[in-house]
Amino acid sequence: MSINHPSFGTLDSGRIIIFDTTLRDGEQSPGFSMNLDEKLRMAEALHELGADVLEAGFAIASPGDFESVQSIARRFSKDGPVIASLSRANAADILASAEATKPAARPRIHIVLATSDLHMRVKLRMTREEVLERITESVTLARNHAADVEWSAEDGSRSDLEFLCRCVDAAIKAGATTINIPDTVGYSLPADMGLIFSTLMNKVPNADQVIFSAHNHNDLGLAVANTLAAIQAGARQIECTINGIGERAGNAALEEIAMALRTRQDVLKLRTGIESKRILRTSKLLATITGFDVQPNKAIVGRNAFAHESGIHQDGVLKDASTYEIMTPESVGWTTNSIVLGKHSGRAAFRDRLKTLGYEVGDNQLNDAFKRFKDLADRKKVVYDEDIAALVDDEVGRGNDRIKLTGLNVSTGMGTKPMATIALEVDGARRDGMAMGDGGVDATFNALRAAFPHEVNLKLFAVQSVTGGTDAQARVTIRLEENGKLVDGQGADTDTIVAAARAYVHALNKLLVKRERTEPPPVPAGGLPSGQGG
Ligand code: KIV
Ligand code: ZN
Repeated sequence: MSINHPSFGTLDSGRIIIFDTTLRDGEQSPGFSMNLDEKLRMAEALHELGADVLEAGFAIASPGDFESVQSIARRFSKDGPVIASLSRANAADILASAEATKPAARPRIHIVLATSDLHMRVKLRMTREEVLERITESVTLARNHAADVEWSAEDGSRSDLEFLCRCVDAAIKAGATTINIPDTVGYSLPADMGLIFSTLMNKVPNADQVIFSAHNHNDLGLAVANTLAAIQAGARQIECTINGIGERAGNAALEEIAMALRTRQDVLKLRTGIESKRILRTSKLLATITGFDVQPNKAIVGRNAFAHESGIHQDGVLKDASTYEIMTPESVGWTTNSIVLGKHSGRAAFRDRLKTLGYEVGDNQLNDAFKRFKDLADRKKVVYDEDIAALVDDEVGRGNDRIKLTGLNVSTGMGTKPMATIALEVDGARRDGMAMGDGGVDATFNALRAAFPHEVNLKLFAVQSVTGGTDAQARVTIRLEENGKLVDGQGADTDTIVAAARAYVHALNKLLVKRERTEPPPVPAGGLPSGQGG
């Protein structure tokens, strides 16, 4: 069996479409916001990973979101993944999505409208008949602007199944090419999923002309299981995020689904376009950009996912890895030998290593990163891949920063009042600051405020070690808040205070960009009253 799709042409029933929503559902969760440069880097990495569809954002949400969707669409104007933008079921949203995705070689308008009795009554204040009419109107409008239109039934899994069939029928008749049934609140069990998808696919006329899609949230820890159940019932697109980030407990994790499909091909007999060896680096890039590492026991990409601690297991793995490993660490990008370069390594070796790690940097970025690498290699006995990744991630995308940290001196110790002097370059002009504080970090942040006066609330200060050892680099994540706007910044260095200062300056730069952006326009009647759903 095959299907003809406007973006993918003829698709056989063995191919699963990976719809990545890291940049939309993932990005909208607290602490995971990304700036334009970061979104572009993530989009590039997701493309290299082999995602088929990138949901680049929610174009109408703010001018910044519109710009991100449009920039990603432009980035893939010749080829690359399908670029989708989310819209509520109203003309303003749909036209914004159409406009923002237009530069893409393969644009998609994604429309969402709630179909559960609860959401329709409390949130939309619409009757079933009104919702049906709205589906027809909105999908018809979207089809006038794009050949590829996805329609999503928000809270679909808690909707009356008979009514859901009528909604899907209306969406298909109006021209939707993908039908997505989200488990918006992560309530379903795998058996429910199977029933929903098989009922829709068996009962709705022309269901075989469209692709059915699953979008599962992880509130009960069942997002991946539910997604696999949907696939087994016939869904051929799955919506997921890297590291499972997303609203509340997150979305189904791309890496887990991709590896389940690959590892259990014996039963599932399906394939994706995912280059599994790029999984780890994509996961790490996201962690670096957002400042949130995955937990050590996270499947596939957690530090312990392939670590064998018990003697019995170690013995077995040494005799034959398949005794305790169902997939190889290398197949998802783990390398056994991660010691790479030292202080005698040259620029060519450094560039080469960057390439192997998946970084394509321009000459200026290479120069800056190489300088920092040499400095790091002087201070640190061994430089690991993780160190290089942290260092380059710290450098890339910061070229346009208005504030640069150019010097820092901190004196601290027992019985002395910590003091910091700092040097910044703000829009090209030097600014100095000096201050005391309760500890070296506090003194540094006070000095920063003296050099560049500003009023913000520090909401988060987190330190992680990039590798082991006392000479390891620290990676600091800072969250600042100003008038309800949140920004995160990251910085890495072998000196934790320097890393903290870098992170603070990074966050301040993001805040300056955010200040220039305006608030989202008011919600049109009949749309979702707040946010865009999970
Ligand atoms: O969870 C959800 O319902 C969503 C929709 C907007 C697709 O994210
Ligand atoms: Zn969602």
